[in-house]
Amino acid sequence: MKKPSDSWGSRTGLILAMAGNAVGLGNFLRFPVQAIQNGGGTFIIPYLICFLVMGIPLLFTEWSIGRFGGKRGNHSTPYILGSMSNSNWWKYIGVFGIFTNVAVVAYYTYIESWTFIYVIHTLVGTFTPMSQSEVSMFFIHYVNLEGSDFGIPYLPVIVYMVVLGINVYILSTGLGGIEKVAKIGMPLLILFGTVLAYKGWSMGAGYASETFPDANAWDGINFLWTPQYTSLLDPKVWLSAAGQIFFTLSVGMGSIQCYASYLKENEDIALNSLTSGFTNELVEIVLGSAIVIPIAAGFLGLDWVLDNAGFGMAFQTMPYLFIQWGELFGMVAGICWFGLLFFAGITSSLAMGTPWMGFMKDEFGWGKVKGAVSFGVLALLMGLPTILFYRYGYFDEYDYWAGTVSLVVFALLEMLLFTWVFGIDNAWSELNRGADLIIPGIYRWIMKYITPLLLVLVLVGALITPMGNDWGGAIAGLLNGEGWMLDPGSLVSKISHQDLQLLMKNDPLHKEFYTNKMFFSSLARIQLITLFLFIALLVWYSGTKRKQISHE
Ligand code: ALA
Repeated sequence: MKKPSDSWGSRTGLILAMAGNAVGLGNFLRFPVQAIQNGGGTFIIPYLICFLVMGIPLLFTEWSIGRFGGKRGNHSTPYILGSMSNSNWWKYIGVFGIFTNVAVVAYYTYIESWTFIYVIHTLVGTFTPMSQSEVSMFFIHYVNLEGSDFGIPYLPVIVYMVVLGINVYILSTGLGGIEKVAKIGMPLLILFGTVLAYKGWSMGAGYASETFPDANAWDGINFLWTPQYTSLLDPKVWLSAAGQIFFTLSVGMGSIQCYASYLKENEDIALNSLTSGFTNELVEIVLGSAIVIPIAAGFLGLDWVLDNAGFGMAFQTMPYLFIQWGELFGMVAGICWFGLLFFAGITSSLAMGTPWMGFMKDEFGWGKVKGAVSFGVLALLMGLPTILFYRYGYFDEYDYWAGTVSLVVFALLEMLLFTWVFGIDNAWSELNRGADLIIPGIYRWIMKYITPLLLVLVLVGALITPMGNDWGGAIAGLLNGEGWMLDPGSLVSKISHQDLQLLMKNDPLHKEFYTNKMFFSSLARIQLITLFLFIALLVWYSGTKRKQISHE
């Protein structure tokens, strides 16, 4: 086992890289949609509570175990986790920390490639003569949502490969390159975001179009920021809030542990982790909520936004809305917006490359170039089907299993390892070693009991969500002997494709489409399982090599 020579150049570089890891497409595209779909102000309170009792403890945990593992020459979760207990099994749990990154980067880079091509289209004025519906159709055609069934979308594939290539190139320059991108990308992103947010907030009323005479940007802002205390009793909102916190902070992924493994032995964790976490939240809450929603609400009305909230919304509307600000400012705004998304995306996708590279370096002595290129090949193999079969939900399947469920499972297991197996006394002193901040003692208690308990609740809640999310009714039904009716969105229903079967039953005219969807969803799952097993096999093989070396 060789000791990697890579390390962070400066504290600013480390914080910017960590914040860049967290600040991503999730802040600007996922957060507003989650907030809208969960009732706007209804979402905010559970979201903030989840940040305090799950997000922060997980940041503390991941930074601590990363630095702990790095000190022992381990830079990816299989052996970081393995070094914290005597049991051999933890290194297989650590497989999640490489698997999730490879699986997520595969589709995440695809979105990054949309932002890349949209910057170019904005520059050359593609959207200038288009109507709102033409802009919307442009996106639908681009991702082949309505195209010929199995035609190859050549341009998206090529652009995807270019963007993946940029990632591979930067990764091959090591932590220094990543730090440089973060130092340039993060300030630019905040600058672009501030310009757009200012415009969004200052739009107010008066943008009413003939089609949407009552449109008003402030309706969007008020909808997001008027708290609704009833939400505190709705488990669905809690699940979504927790899911967003995981995704946006990049916890449960394995990339924070990897970045932290390059910290020095007594380098601060407490203040650094909080600084990067709060930077992410500031960007998400202030900038993430001040762009898409108010601008779309300002032009199209809040009702339109509520009906159309979805991931593609930003691509299907923003280019048209920017044009309404005039040709020149419209172009500047478009470049700011898609450029911002690109920088947000790439600083996160670079982080996803490091656990694989760290593992291959530690266990097989692969250098940066070999590590980066092999990561690119793996991401390409995983990513191509998400482009080719996008309309059959291949992409969504990855996002659900690798980008959502896997994060919660891994977070729960690593939290149990850290506070129960490694032990809260060891955990607390590891976290506080070199700390530039006194962590309130209550966090010791939260980390040991509250966070794991909440993670179990989130997982069980998702596993057996009752029909219509009506927990009270479901429990009463169970007590009356009526059994437990699962919601089609529950994890159990998804595993058995009950969700798709229900859709097919309700929409018999599209039977063939749903049959294909079921087929591709199974294929995506097989591909994900194969990836997991492949990494587990590498971990097993590296284990045998380690044993041989220790016997020699
Ligand atoms: N944390 C990254 C994001 O929010 C993955 O996009």
